[in-house]
Amino acid sequence: MEWMIGVCVVMGMLVMSWWILPYGKNDEKTVGKGKVPKGNSGWPLLGETLDFIASGYTSNPVTFLEKRKSLYGNVFKTCILGSNVIISTDPDVNKVVLQNHQANFVPAYPKSIRELMGEQSILKMNGTMHKKVHTLIAGFLRSPQFKARITRDIEHTVKQCFASWTPHQPIYVQDQVKRITFPVLVKVLMSVGPGEELDFLYREFAEFIKGLICLPLKFPGTRLYKSLQSKDRMVKMVRKIVDERKKLMRDNNGDEEGNTVNDVLDALLRDKGDSSSSAGLSPEMISQNIIEMMIPGQETLPTAMTMAIKFLSDSPLALSKLQEENMKLKRLKINCSEDYSWTEYMSLPFTQNVISETLRMANIVNGIWRKSVNDIEIKGYLIPKHWCVMASLTSVHMDEKNYENPFKFDPWRWEKIGVVTGNNSFTPFGGGHRLCPGLELSRLELSIFLHHLVTTYRWVAERDEIIYFPTVKMKRKLPISLEPINA
Ligand code: HEM
Repeated sequence: MEWMIGVCVVMGMLVMSWWILPYGKNDEKTVGKGKVPKGNSGWPLLGETLDFIASGYTSNPVTFLEKRKSLYGNVFKTCILGSNVIISTDPDVNKVVLQNHQANFVPAYPKSIRELMGEQSILKMNGTMHKKVHTLIAGFLRSPQFKARITRDIEHTVKQCFASWTPHQPIYVQDQVKRITFPVLVKVLMSVGPGEELDFLYREFAEFIKGLICLPLKFPGTRLYKSLQSKDRMVKMVRKIVDERKKLMRDNNGDEEGNTVNDVLDALLRDKGDSSSSAGLSPEMISQNIIEMMIPGQETLPTAMTMAIKFLSDSPLALSKLQEENMKLKRLKINCSEDYSWTEYMSLPFTQNVISETLRMANIVNGIWRKSVNDIEIKGYLIPKHWCVMASLTSVHMDEKNYENPFKFDPWRWEKIGVVTGNNSFTPFGGGHRLCPGLELSRLELSIFLHHLVTTYRWVAERDEIIYFPTVKMKRKLPISLEPINA
């Protein structure tokens, strides 16, 4: 059934995009020594979309890529989801695309996603404005003061979620973890705690997100229209908070510098403008961005948590080693009755290796889509102007040239590799100017979640399968049955 819906949606997207995208042009073009990579554009209109989707429904998400790689090389052209695309499975080419030093690429998303994002969304914007907003957000999320504060909130939310679980009754991990990540995300973004406002946002966000992959038709009754209405309601609520916060800042003797930065909203409000923009960021733009940041925040981390449980359930040795390491810390903390610090959570080496291995294998963001604004030559490959490029993260993470036995969940491999910054072959959070600003928060949240889970419960997971299209998820939401460890 899901397969059928997926195909119908994609067919619709193709029809809609046929008029606006350049098909089959520039195929034979050369610039300098560069040539458009080899490949097959597939059927008229459909291109190779069906093959691409079918691969997402198999247990091996790289079959589509592997087949073409063996025929045409590491970088090849295809036509999927209504676009001519050059797919790169080469870590060096991916690096150039992500670094984007010459500003040759802009983000490219399917039409439904573009419609859901405002014109001034961080996910869509470019140039100096993007740099400014990204720096404000990333700077705040990286700060040790923020991490120290959010550690308590994460612990509290994890424990609250656990308290609602009944031992020996199935719980659905994929749903449950959202009840942890969402309250934390909303706290990080605008300091809204449990209560009516949070419940409102949770409900509306669930409606909003349904429009991410849908037919790009926008009139009453359509999915996209309903999602945009949910977004409007959320933006209205956030706008009220923004106005109150601005007033508070003014009342504070106009001493905006003296106000502490408690959340992303504060960080964005602090901006007073610079030579690139005469005024600071507008309240409307800030409100929109706060909602839009929920997309990358809430559509990724719950999946990482779910996949960690899935991989650990299938790897008793890794689970036992993880438990041993975390139990040791727990006993230490009980004996000295001190709070955990964020650095303690983050410095458990095996736990960090489990997280890296989960991110490598789960491939939550399977590839990064860009569009070229010029003819560009990389490593002898020509990417013609206006073509899409997909820097495939999955194929690099699952390539045996980069990882021995790549389909094996093996956290121990990271003892040898280490998480070296600048490692082209490990980029679950992207890279360059758009490197995920939620990277450290995600690792911290995963560490706290895993710590409390494995030191409180043992569990048995029911049979379930990973699906890779349109996004990574568990077919049955990963049901598990828990038992408290000391029972
Ligand atoms: C395991 C969890 C996560 C993964 C795997 C992940 C992955 C990514 C990737 C690959 C990108 C780059 C996209 C691109 O280059 O176009 C990205 C961007 C982004 N992520 Fe994350 N992310 C995660 C969690 C989060 C969280 C928790 C937040 C929010 C606090 C967040 C906020 C963002 C934002 C705002 C961007 C856009 C940055 C920009 O374009 O400048 N992410 N993420």
